Amino acid sequence: MTNFLDNTAIRIEFPVTNRMLYLDSAHQTPLCIRVRAALEQFFTEGYEMAGPKPVWLERVEVVRARLANFIGAAPDEIAYTKNTSEGLNIAANAIDLKPGDNVLMIEGDHPNNAYAWLNLKRKGVDIRFIKLETDVASAETFAPHIDSRTRVISLSHVTFHAGQRHDIASIGTLCKSRRLYLVVDAMQSVGVLPIDVKAMGVSMLAAGCHKGLLVPQGLGFLYVDRNLSELHPAYLATAGLENPPADFIARPDDLALRPGARRFELGNFNLPDIHALGASLTLITDIGTQSIEAHVINLGDKLIAGLDALGVGLAGPRDRRHRAHIYVLMLPMDWIPYFAKHNVRVSPERDGIRVSFGLFNNEADVDTLIALIRARLESQDCENSASALTCPLR
Ligand SMILES: Cc1ncc(COP(=O)(O)O)c(C=O)c1O
Repeated sequence: MTNFLDNTAIRIEFPVTNRMLYLDSAHQTPLCIRVRAALEQFFTEGYEMAGPKPVWLERVEVVRARLANFIGAAPDEIAYTKNTSEGLNIAANAIDLKPGDNVLMIEGDHPNNAYAWLNLKRKGVDIRFIKLETDVASAETFAPHIDSRTRVISLSHVTFHAGQRHDIASIGTLCKSRRLYLVVDAMQSVGVLPIDVKAMGVSMLAAGCHKGLLVPQGLGFLYVDRNLSELHPAYLATAGLENPPADFIARPDDLALRPGARRFELGNFNLPDIHALGASLTLITDIGTQSIEAHVINLGDKLIAGLDALGVGLAGPRDRRHRAHIYVLMLPMDWIPYFAKHNVRVSPERDGIRVSFGLFNNEADVDTLIALIRARLESQDCENSASALTCPLR
């Protein structure tokens, strides 16, 4: 029998669970009570004393260290960014790519990753998209496409559009043996799956914090392997300097870069969100990402069994090793208003309707969803539908 996480207490932390059936954590996770409290504490401090900036900046470093530890990195390997795209763009522009070099990617991966690299076409860099012929990408997907000018492999850890969980560790081993950079978009996986950047062999990893890390939009981070000191920031601000001028007058003769990932940081921080992240990291680490991972995959098992019984297809992988919290149901778009009418929040996706679990979802949520699908399939509504796809039972 499957052991589901007893998340009764966690559900109380997420008031959304009383308001609707929220199955859209791959889009944005609703805020929880302790994140709101951290934000309120920050705003109260701002109101009352215009900000105890040294205290806030100390907390920025505490959260940086905790975030680093959370993904198996050292604090000096983490730069704060504003989102995944910014991290990926920093990564793409930090590598000294020459005309004729090539970057390997997976066809159809998130456009925010693709465009960061496609922007280098103007420098003569060749961006090659590989068609995925298997459930998920692994070293075997990329190996036949590597040639003497390949410098980088870049892909998502978990895909937003079908929930594939690519085998990053095998790709990391391949990249090490062929001396390639591996750049990973972990927007969907961070906070949901355990991440160990060293074990995965990642060079740089970018993510935002508004999904699995449970804070409002506007904060991201970039992990940069500290051995990659050759990486150069495309933008420079005082924060990126080893010797920032104490008198705030720029020194043209001293552009030495700060060691570590902080050479990529620019200006002031998203302080409210970093405070929120301190609170959410406590919640997530108390539960443990291994438990969150097992929970969402177990919910996926239950969902797949329910879909199978109804004859509704699944767009992504079925194998537990190849999936995480994202499940795309092969139902047409006219199901979106039906779900909305029944107070269920899901997302339209390329191949159907995306259901994505968060740590606050439970078995009853899956039962409710399956019952709603069954009810519509059996209803007159469905019988009268002109679209054969609308009635997968037929
Ligand atoms: C895999 C992936 N990358 C990136 C993003 C978003 O990029 P950004 O954080 O820059 O908005 C998303 C979804 O929001 C995503 O699913």
